[in-house]
Amino acid sequence: MSTLQLETRGSTLVVTLYRPDKLNAINSIMLEELRRIFSDEQFFQSHRSIVVTGSGKAFAAGADIAELAACSRDTGQDFAQRGQYVFQLIESSPIPVIAAVNGYALGGGCELAMACHLRFAAETAVFGQPEVKLGIIPGYGGTQRLTRLIGVARAVEFMLTGEYLAADRAHTLGLVNRVYPHEKLLEETLRFCAQLEALPKTALTSILHCTYGVQLSAMDVEAREFGILCGTEDFREGTAAFLEKRTPAFKGR
Ligand code: COA
Repeated sequence: MSTLQLETRGSTLVVTLYRPDKLNAINSIMLEELRRIFSDEQFFQSHRSIVVTGSGKAFAAGADIAELAACSRDTGQDFAQRGQYVFQLIESSPIPVIAAVNGYALGGGCELAMACHLRFAAETAVFGQPEVKLGIIPGYGGTQRLTRLIGVARAVEFMLTGEYLAADRAHTLGLVNRVYPHEKLLEETLRFCAQLEALPKTALTSILHCTYGVQLSAMDVEAREFGILCGTEDFREGTAAFLEKRTPAFKGR
């Protein structure tokens, strides 16, 4: 992979966006490489979580403006749909995906962070949807995900002005789950991932599926998933361990 670096740390796959000289701007090659990872069942089976982070001083400073600039009325919609498709794959991951936002998360970079299930940020991270300043709008799902995360009024203000948010304000607004000193960000994110490892994979997958994968009849899906989980070995183990006052040993089935 030329724009991503992959590393397994414990049971976590760390995906590092790697175009540091371009602040990890998301070009078509990076998008295709992300697509390959997040549509590969093997990665989900061999890991318990995925961390997405950036190299250098940025998480990602947006879609690659050099490529974007070539878009016309005919090709602009395809450009947006390609990104939407890949970010949807990320959100649909059956294992938790955490953005470790180490610096600028602007435009498509902010949208990528929002497609992840959780966002942990360095104190120095900066968030923004500055597309309006280029005469366009967030096109990789940002108008929808930002609204869901921080509410309509704030999301609209944020997109209309294109203003940047520092990590602490992003945290206050609910865009970011946790904030850490820059040098601790990856270590703390991996520590969180290790905590998830002790929990039953089946239930984690169901929580993600109910939260993100449901368009219609959410209650029916929730009840169905609940029923499925009641038939798992992990459910027997979790309840038995509680009643027997011991630590459960989950097997992911
Ligand atoms: N697309 C393509 N290239 C980008 C980019 C993007 N979204 N963001 C940064 N780069 C490139 C710059 O062109 C520059 O390349 P060069 O060294 O070959 O000239 C390099 O990354 C470093 O960026 P630079 O602007 O010099 O860094 P800076 O620290 O002065 O400023 C930012 C950082 C993030 C404020 C600034 O790069 C910026 O505003 N980027 C665009 C943000 C944006 O509008 N994103 C939404 C896109 S839809």
